[in-house]
Amino acid sequence: SAAEKGGHDYFMLKEIEEQPEALANTLRGHFVDGRIVLDEQRMSDQDLRDVDKVFVVACGTAYHSGLVAKYAIEHWTRLPVEAELASEFRYRDPVLDRDTLVVAISQSGETADTLEAVRHAREQKARVLAICNTNGAQIPRESDAVLYTHAGPEIGVAATKTFLAQVAANYLVGLALAQARGTKYPDEVAREFEALSAMPAAVEQVLSTVDQVREIGRELAESKAVLFLGRHVGYPVALEGALKLKELAYMHAEGFAAGELKHGPIALIEPGLPVVVVMPSPKGRAVLHAKLLSNISEIQARGARTIVIAEEGDETVRPIADHLIEIPSVPTLLQPLVATVPMQVLAAEIARSRGYDVDKPRNLAKSVTVE
Ligand code: G6P
Repeated sequence: SAAEKGGHDYFMLKEIEEQPEALANTLRGHFVDGRIVLDEQRMSDQDLRDVDKVFVVACGTAYHSGLVAKYAIEHWTRLPVEAELASEFRYRDPVLDRDTLVVAISQSGETADTLEAVRHAREQKARVLAICNTNGAQIPRESDAVLYTHAGPEIGVAATKTFLAQVAANYLVGLALAQARGTKYPDEVAREFEALSAMPAAVEQVLSTVDQVREIGRELAESKAVLFLGRHVGYPVALEGALKLKELAYMHAEGFAAGELKHGPIALIEPGLPVVVVMPSPKGRAVLHAKLLSNISEIQARGARTIVIAEEGDETVRPIADHLIEIPSVPTLLQPLVATVPMQVLAAEIARSRGYDVDKPRNLAKSVTVE
């Protein structure tokens, strides 16, 4: 009923609006007496200190959260980090030993490929840390450490609030590793946690753009395809935006690293093609910001319809944005938490306009427990 859906036409919009709470609940209880703590730890602090390489494995949307993790964990810990699709990882010969940490991210904790990746890792003595939204699921049961996301149950098949919660949990894992390794002083860890703690309010602020984004969605409903561009942590956000649109609106959608534009994607640009661009903060990563500005000019000159997600007060994008969606100014590494939200709303609204069931897209299952 509409009441169950929080007065919305579909659950997904309710779940999108629950994201500030999902984030706050995921962070709660993980910074105690000045230290990041996990929910379960069956490996020693020394084991955590000894980690010399990290693989993040997951499927679907959880994999996109893992790509964000790569940027944050590398930056904070100076450990090499690879983000991998579980279905690829498990059939390769990844080089693992007891000092390798495999971070397995799964909302359900039951995804077949992710579970097999965990088993594959453990057979080679690697330690496994699970990030999971479901208490007592198989993946956390078979892991050496667990960090639960507290997004609450998610009804919509396409992941929304569980994605934001996974991204937040990844940051906590990065800080836990930085703390264990001493690559960050305790006061720096405290400051990063404080920055994270401000994110629920930042996401709340982005939700004020929902009506504007829905309107853009209605305008784009007849498009044949949509491209998504981003750089740095905006790249996984672009991939997630494209995945949401495929899943919900059955539309051809591709996410690209903006730096690859000239290596192919620019050939796809034709008049009227909608391109969604995630702009980095002009303050945080000025070089990337400048590069994206020139990318947008290039595609706009070729007639693309630009939908630009940019930091509030970033006036440089106005002349080249056909639609401008403003997000609050947050630390660069944390930007995915705010930048993803308009992508979710856009996909849901395009799907609704096309007459599709936003909560139950065709052919998809909430959790893929068979290969
Ligand atoms: C399915 C769902 C996706 C989800 C993926 C991984 O494809 O439809 O929304 O991202 O599985 O699920 P997991 O439970 O492992 O996070």
